[in-house]
Amino acid sequence: MSDHRALLSQQALGFQSPALRQITLEVQAVGGINLGQGVSQLPVPEFVLEAADQAAKAGINRYTNPRGLESLRVALANKLAHFNKIDYLDPEREILVTCGATGAFEGVCASLLNPGDEVVIFEPYYPYHVQALKRYGAVIRFVMLRGRDFEVDWEGLEAAVNDKTKFVLVNTPGNPSGKVFNQGELKRIGEILERFPALIVTDEIYEYMAFDGFAHLSPASLPELRERTITIGGYSKTFSITGWRIGYAVAPAEIAEPIASVLDAVYVCAPAPLQEAVAQGIVRFDDAFYRDLNAKYERKRNMFVDGLRAIGMEPFVPEGAYYLLSRYDAIAPGMGSMEFVRHMIASTGVGAVPSSDFVRHPATAPWVRFCLALEDDRLERALERLGSLRPAVV
Ligand SMILES: Cc1ncc(COP(=O)(O)O)c(C=O)c1O
Repeated sequence: MSDHRALLSQQALGFQSPALRQITLEVQAVGGINLGQGVSQLPVPEFVLEAADQAAKAGINRYTNPRGLESLRVALANKLAHFNKIDYLDPEREILVTCGATGAFEGVCASLLNPGDEVVIFEPYYPYHVQALKRYGAVIRFVMLRGRDFEVDWEGLEAAVNDKTKFVLVNTPGNPSGKVFNQGELKRIGEILERFPALIVTDEIYEYMAFDGFAHLSPASLPELRERTITIGGYSKTFSITGWRIGYAVAPAEIAEPIASVLDAVYVCAPAPLQEAVAQGIVRFDDAFYRDLNAKYERKRNMFVDGLRAIGMEPFVPEGAYYLLSRYDAIAPGMGSMEFVRHMIASTGVGAVPSSDFVRHPATAPWVRFCLALEDDRLERALERLGSLRPAVV
């Protein structure tokens, strides 16, 4: 028995991991600072940590209802009414706790997609979305977000939607663009979909990070979109618990039901004591907690925008989320994005994600993405190191 590879499925053989995995290893190898993968390296709120400890000691260690602990579904229903303005949700039938937003999107794809169904996605995109859609055999229609403000290509969107469209995927605030979709844009997407049965699937994992007076708006809060929207979110980023795997999906009951059944069959439930801890965190923290979180990320963004400009890079100033996409061609003309990231790791020890993870044609996008979810001193050190880049490349 030597050729194990011959046993692999088409799916496994065709699978391409995003570059960010490789970059993490390369940065670790040089003991550098990884601003690549979107892992929050900030501390978990003490209250949430203690709640997890207590929940485990109190015996909340068994499989939960596949839809999640009732305490968390009720906490989510209240938070969704208060913050997202999606009110009167039924926590029994319309809210599911999932293993991260990733689990929620997997459940959505498994429940909605037959091979050949079409999905519209905005580009630059989050690579896991595209990977999942490909695994389900979806035909992906890409619509560009254009220019420095990532404006929707409306003609492109109109051309992309048709009878075969199952859903349009909106990620707001967006990774990697930082784009925060406004009310006019969401309404216009709704108008374009009006003639079709297509849904909107919205990934709002960065909902608490919107800057410069941009406000996060959930598509499902608009009455005309509510019935056609599935909302995905989670606490990986908000509570800095990417390893806990606590997310959620909100969907009309007839769609929530199969998502719950599919995910039950795949992994049964999300980690029980961690569900309880997140529920308690949601109940405990008031608006000030989320305002502080937002202000903290806005400061990090400002610091990094200024720092990159001083080096001669041209950052896109994000409206939200915790990334910074930046052009690098002014300091490294003609370099491919992966080549530039490798050069950056070799000469500064700082890792970022190349545009090849976010766009189909990276040659037209001399960009890299930095993750800003690190303590300020680490970000400052990263900027200092990046300072050596300009003379080293030019
Ligand atoms: C847009 C987007 N959705 C989902 C996720 C993953 O979320 P979770 O940890 O809840 O699975 C990420 C993480 O980087 C993300 O950027």
